[in-house]
Amino acid sequence: MSQQEFSSRQHAVEARRYLIPEMEYGYDHPEVIFWTRHFASEAHKRNVFANIKAALQSQRSPVAAQALATAWYDFTRYVPTFLTRAVAQTGDPERQHHLIQIAYDELGGRNKEFIHSQLFLKAIETIGLKVAPRHSGSSIREVIQVLDATLAHTDSEAGIIGLLLSFEIIAEENIEMLFDGLCYSDDCAAALSDSAFFKVHRLDESEHIRHSVANFLRFCNTPAERAAFKQSFDQGVDYWRRFWDQCACLITLESGSRTHT
Ligand SMILES: [Fe+2]
Repeated sequence: MSQQEFSSRQHAVEARRYLIPEMEYGYDHPEVIFWTRHFASEAHKRNVFANIKAALQSQRSPVAAQALATAWYDFTRYVPTFLTRAVAQTGDPERQHHLIQIAYDELGGRNKEFIHSQLFLKAIETIGLKVAPRHSGSSIREVIQVLDATLAHTDSEAGIIGLLLSFEIIAEENIEMLFDGLCYSDDCAAALSDSAFFKVHRLDESEHIRHSVANFLRFCNTPAERAAFKQSFDQGVDYWRRFWDQCACLITLESGSRTHT
């Protein structure tokens, strides 16, 4: 990273981007700090990355990276659908205003050049990867359908907010796991770090997490709401475990089928 890039990144961190004006639950609010740590530690207990880390230790190749890239592309295309569907399951306009913000970010905000799924395609292109049909016939879509069903069965507004926080709480780890999995050779890291996709995500995920914790503090205050929130939060973190486990399987299957054809 050049000095100029470093200082502009530092500036962005110091300026602390906010999705929307925040009068109450800023980064330094003690409850934001407490609950962010709490939910992060709850998520870490579920050991989401064990199998994908093991798979990458034995299978690091362009074929493995392409299997992961294809899975992530299917996922990133689905994200705005999931988020907007979740918002559509809530009834109050003020709540909808808060919950829709991350979907807007995913779709590029005011600039369609920043649609995240498109940024992802450009990023993998720089390291010679593309989204490719799977030889094995398996896909990440099976796992995404489970998440879809979980959302459809979430019948409380607090539960929807729990699912939305679970989607973000390990976002920084998810992005670094993806980065690591795509780096099939030493040359990939610099190109990927330079891509708008990774720059945007490395800067913005902390705000997505803070924003989602603020939604919890704003809208989930009774014991019943917090219980419903936590139940859906756990289901959402389980989605991540299934997602990364399926990525590990796809990497192994694709690597095996390409070596035998
Ligand atoms: Fe994104």
